[in-house]
Amino acid sequence: MKPVKIGVLGLGTVGGGTLNVLSRNAEEITRRAGREIQVCLAAARDVQRVRGCELQGVRLTADPFEIVNDPEIEVVVELIGGYEPAKSLVLQAIANGKHVVTANKALIALHGNEIFAAAEKQGVMVQFEAAVAGGIPIIKAIREGLSGNRISWLAGIINGTSNFILTEMRDKGRDFADALAEAQQRGYAEADPTFDIEGIDAGHKLTILASIAFGIPLRFDKVYTEGITRITRADVEYAEALGYRIKLLGVARKTPGGVELRVHPTLIPKRRLIANVDGVMNAVLVYGDAVGPTLYYGAGAGAEPTASAVVADLVDVVRALTSDPENRVPHLAFQASAISQAPLLAADEFKTAYYLRLTAEDKPGVLADISQILAARQISIEALIQKEPRPGESSVPIIMLTQLTLEKEMNAAIAEIEALASVSGKINRIRMETLG
Ligand code: HSE
Repeated sequence: MKPVKIGVLGLGTVGGGTLNVLSRNAEEITRRAGREIQVCLAAARDVQRVRGCELQGVRLTADPFEIVNDPEIEVVVELIGGYEPAKSLVLQAIANGKHVVTANKALIALHGNEIFAAAEKQGVMVQFEAAVAGGIPIIKAIREGLSGNRISWLAGIINGTSNFILTEMRDKGRDFADALAEAQQRGYAEADPTFDIEGIDAGHKLTILASIAFGIPLRFDKVYTEGITRITRADVEYAEALGYRIKLLGVARKTPGGVELRVHPTLIPKRRLIANVDGVMNAVLVYGDAVGPTLYYGAGAGAEPTASAVVADLVDVVRALTSDPENRVPHLAFQASAISQAPLLAADEFKTAYYLRLTAEDKPGVLADISQILAARQISIEALIQKEPRPGESSVPIIMLTQLTLEKEMNAAIAEIEALASVSGKINRIRMETLG
């Protein structure tokens, strides 16, 4: 059979890795796909500076539109990232009847609904395994492996940079800024590191996971995002002493009132496997009613781990080239006509347990005032530690764990506690999940 001709947009880290994996494993890949996958054309911003990847038989161009408009190319692999020109290129490729494989989480999270609608109209496939958790085949697992289940929640460590920073803070007692500088130096962070540390990157990935888990449209605008910039070494140490680890988690949960989509630092019991996922590694925990909890772990970024997902998508596309569009796996796991507009909860309605750290005067009645405020809002205290005052200081750190409560009740209680004359500064609040 004739080889399938593909064009690659972007020869950065992932593009280079994809060319190398396709070349090195060509024989295995052909045996799996049933046809040879041939990269004919690749676009790079500066073709003179492309190096470190297998370019034999690949023509280079500086014009990515040449690829999406080339009649010979059947599959376009978009590895440029960002919104534009990626979106225009993908839509143009679809309009020209080409299948698309992309690693672009931001593009799918924000424009996926439009892109999939265009693809369905044209009868082409858009695959995006590499957009979430790098090399972990989590899209495949949820979309196909768990399709017999009603999925009630999932939780993931889906940003390697934040996980690296939190791990360094815990293991080496490093400050946030110092650990971030190293993550950037090692090339883990996005071009704009605020996407990593403010939870935006994880929010993009969570948007995609929630859609394929629950069969809802992609709604990045409804994801609550809070990053790790307010986590201090003291929080990491207190959490550890209480038997917890702090992780930046993306959580999607079905509740009777609607779906919760949230990214925030989270205390998780140390004994959970996912609490022990360290450094740049990613992991996603998915709960299905039939299978129970399942955990997926692996490299969330990097040239070849991400290329592994890109190539798997290419193999899927090649295998399905001759199938009728209606017999292919739907883009968002559920048939397009069965995607449901479930209500999405506002942050005020989230229900979680909390870790609270505050500084209060060391004198009788202070704890009573605080617990009275919490009790009035039906917030139950699970554990409490009061540290010794430092020499010469009259204030002490107080750390509290609460039971489940509504976020709006907790916000109101925090405002009241912060207003007490005996409490100084802001309360540091971190949500908790048992993930049981
Ligand atoms: N910056 C991302 C991370 C890379 O840290 O996980 C992969 O999306």
